[in-house]
Amino acid sequence: MHVTNQIGKHLENTSIHSIPQLVRNNDYTFDAERIGFIFPQYYGGMPEMVESFIKAMKIPSTKYTFAIITQGGEGNGFVQMQTKKLLASKGLSLNYVDSLFMGDNYIRMYGAKSSDVYVDRHQKADAKVNHLLKDINQLKNKEPSTGLIMGSITKPVYSIWKNRLPKIDKKFNTDTECNSCGVCTQVCPANNIIMKTKQTILEP
Ligand SMILES: Cc1cc2nc3c(=O)[nH]c(=O)nc-3n(C[C@H](O)[C@H](O)[C@H](O)COP(=O)(O)O)c2cc1C
Ligand code: SF4
Repeated sequence: MHVTNQIGKHLENTSIHSIPQLVRNNDYTFDAERIGFIFPQYYGGMPEMVESFIKAMKIPSTKYTFAIITQGGEGNGFVQMQTKKLLASKGLSLNYVDSLFMGDNYIRMYGAKSSDVYVDRHQKADAKVNHLLKDINQLKNKEPSTGLIMGSITKPVYSIWKNRLPKIDKKFNTDTECNSCGVCTQVCPANNIIMKTKQTILEP
């Protein structure tokens, strides 16, 4: 969200839309010459919600398309190529694509880092965003990184996790380390988390 706001605010003649909100409103038609997608990398690829949204989009007059993909780790070859192929299936070129190394929020696997780590990464990402903004405002081109070796590993991992996720989601709950702050219920893009008891949060 931070990256989206920063990019949306500094690009000329731009409005920001939330994909989960658009999906809820069944709103898929955009008449814009330039369209950008900003989304996180999940399991090496595109989140399912973003993929199905792009598939359903109607974008008749778009001439320049860009994607900025946030991530917590290093590899990005597969997700960038996946985005290019998906847009190509809609008759669109991916004119500019880059990835931003942010704090990793996959805490279940990698744990929480100290706030210093997140501040440092976000400062570096902010500096990179300024550079991306200049390029996108000038309608420059940047091809996806091919990342052939990492991409060939990531592709099967992504397919396996994408199929498993809906089942795993159903088992999601918290333990006594949850302090019931409720932030997860507010930020979940799929609106899937509710507070059931003071210390238990379950996906319905
Ligand atoms: C379920 C899940 C899977 C993730 N998988 C990856 C991954 O494969 N590679 C990676 O670099 N980061 C991965 N991440 C980290 C996020 O891409 C990263 O933290 C991103 O900045 C999150 O953006 P957001 O705050 O807009 O959700 C994953 C995060 C989650 C929650
Ligand atoms: S309410 Fe959600 S965000 Fe807050 S501590 Fe519990 S699990 Fe984490």
